[in-house]
Amino acid sequence: MEKSIVIYYSNTGSNKYLADKIANSLNCPMEAIRPRVKNFGLMLMGGWTKISLGNHPIKSDLTQFDRVILVGPIWTGQLISPLRNFLKKYKQQINELHFATCCGSYDEIKDDKFGYGRVFDKIKALVGDANIHCEAFPIVMVLPEDKREDSELVMATRLNDENFTGAIEERFENFIEEVTM
Ligand SMILES: Cc1cc2nc3c(=O)[nH]c(=O)nc-3n(C[C@H](O)[C@H](O)[C@H](O)COP(=O)(O)O)c2cc1C
Repeated sequence: MEKSIVIYYSNTGSNKYLADKIANSLNCPMEAIRPRVKNFGLMLMGGWTKISLGNHPIKSDLTQFDRVILVGPIWTGQLISPLRNFLKKYKQQINELHFATCCGSYDEIKDDKFGYGRVFDKIKALVGDANIHCEAFPIVMVLPEDKREDSELVMATRLNDENFTGAIEERFENFIEEVTM
C-alpha cells in the first residue's frame, strides 16, 4: 500500500502550486479533480446552492492509500463544489484525510463569515469519522503586513517559488511533519 496521494482542485494556480509542493515533499502521486462543468460562475453558485453536476471520476484507487491530502481554494466562505463533490463521493474510501488550502482569509479572521475556519468545520461535519487534519496557507503570508487589506493585491497574488519563503514555508514544513506523524 502506498502512503499518500494528493488530490487537488485549483482555478488560478496557487492550490496547484501547494499540491505540487506537498506531492514532491511526500514523494507521492497527485491527481486533479475535474469538474464536469468548468464554468466558474456555476461552480461558485454550487458552493451556496449545493447544486452541481459533479466531477469526472478520480482515476486513482483511494483505498490503496493510507492517507489522502486534499488541496483547494475557498470561495465566499463555502466548501467549494469540486471539493464537496469529491468528499461526498469518496469519503468511505478515505482512511485518513488532510486538507490544505491556499485562501484569501487569514488566521486573525478565520472564524469570520468568509474565514477558512468555517470551511474546516464543514469538512469535518461532512466527512465525520475519518481522521481529519486541516491547515491554511493564507496568501497574505507572502505579502508584507501592511498590504493585507489591499484586496486587489491579495486577489492578484499567486504562490510561487519566489514568494514561498519565511513564515509560509515554516508552516508548510510543520504541515508535512503532521501529515507523516
Ligand atoms: C470569487 C472568489 C471568492 C473568494 N472567497 C474567499 C473566501 O470567502 N474566503 C477565503 O479565504 N478566500 C476566498 N477567496 C480567495 C481564494 O481562496 C484564493 O484566491 C485562492 O488562493 C485561489 O486558489 P487557486 O489559485 O488555486 O484557484 C475567493 C476567491 C474568489 C475568486
